[in-house]
Amino acid sequence: MKAAITGKPGDPTVIQIKQVPTPTAKSGWVLIKVMAFGLNRSELFTRRGDSPGVQFPRIQGIECVGMVEEDPSNTLQKGQKVAAIMGGMGREFDGGYAEFALVPSAIVIPFESDLPWTTLGAVPEMFQTVSGSLNEALEMQAGERLLIRGGTSSIGMLACQLAKVKGLTVISTTRNPDKKSALLHNGADHVVIDEGSVIEQVRALFPNGVDKVLELIGTRTLKDSLKCIGKKGVVCMTGILGNEWTMKEFTPMDDIPSTGRLTVYTGGSMDLAQDLLQEFLEEVEKGNVHLNIDRIFKLDAMVEAHQYMEDNKAKGKIVVTP
Ligand SMILES: NC(=O)c1ccc[n+]([C@@H]2O[C@H](COP(=O)([O-])OP(=O)(O)OC[C@H]3O[C@@H](n4cnc5c(N)ncnc54)[C@H](OP(=O)(O)O)[C@@H]3O)[C@@H](O)[C@H]2O)c1
Repeated sequence: MKAAITGKPGDPTVIQIKQVPTPTAKSGWVLIKVMAFGLNRSELFTRRGDSPGVQFPRIQGIECVGMVEEDPSNTLQKGQKVAAIMGGMGREFDGGYAEFALVPSAIVIPFESDLPWTTLGAVPEMFQTVSGSLNEALEMQAGERLLIRGGTSSIGMLACQLAKVKGLTVISTTRNPDKKSALLHNGADHVVIDEGSVIEQVRALFPNGVDKVLELIGTRTLKDSLKCIGKKGVVCMTGILGNEWTMKEFTPMDDIPSTGRLTVYTGGSMDLAQDLLQEFLEEVEKGNVHLNIDRIFKLDAMVEAHQYMEDNKAKGKIVVTP
């Protein structure tokens, strides 16, 4: 089979397209014919060598959608449409950047949908993260004001749409004024240009602060985001787009406003319930949710796809098809 192999940690050019043996199905695992997969920022960190415990060479890719090629347990029939995410995929064992992927049956979720594979490929990891952050961590409620820090990321764009469907007011941030119209078109009520601090702009819009913050930039902006919440507001840190994993100084009594709350979302495959995924795909089919797919690459162009992600050129999800 054809696979994109990360031979050693480094820049996008360490990824090479090679012919390798197709994996053989084994007990407890499912062989999937990969039809599409989304690119994820965590794969950029893995490629650079920043994911602990990852050994190279490795076929990366923490998610994929496709059809069951073989399930030795006979639970899933050949041709069944499935998604697979996380659980060590593309890190501890080879992942989705290939024509076939052999993954543990525990991370395989069957679904029914007539959406194109390129659309389906954008869904699993993105939906799991957004749904887990907004519903489980932030417990969003209609009428609340939500600040999305890192609004142009694929996670941020989908979060905005799901929050709008639920009846929240959304403020999205970007560092790039040229992306403002894309955020408004995606449904944001307000766009704030993020030059490191957004408190003044947010407080100008909402003097009492916002109810919830989805923090996707991470530790670099976390203190500033905490200052944007009102009484009993909640900040959920889900992303680390700012590339800084640890905070040098954090003084809880100063940095968290009185009665404010700080949480994180680091969910995994077990958080993606089959019925939630199915329900979401049906909403996409009905046109109630529009997936922002920025660009579709072929597997042969994995180096270009990783460079495109690295250059922050996307305004939504990058999808790859084998
Ligand atoms: N917790 C979880 O379970 C989970 C799961 C999946 C993803 N994530 C995280 O969620 C975040 C979003 O992922 P994604 O795949 O949606 O990202 P993405 O689409 O690749 O995000 C791209 C956007 O990030 C912004 N950005 C890039 N570098 C930045 C920097 N240094 N400072 C501020 N903004 C920067 C840029 O926005 P502008 O140029 O418009 O400012 C760019 O448009 C990532 O940190 C990812 O690791 C978490």
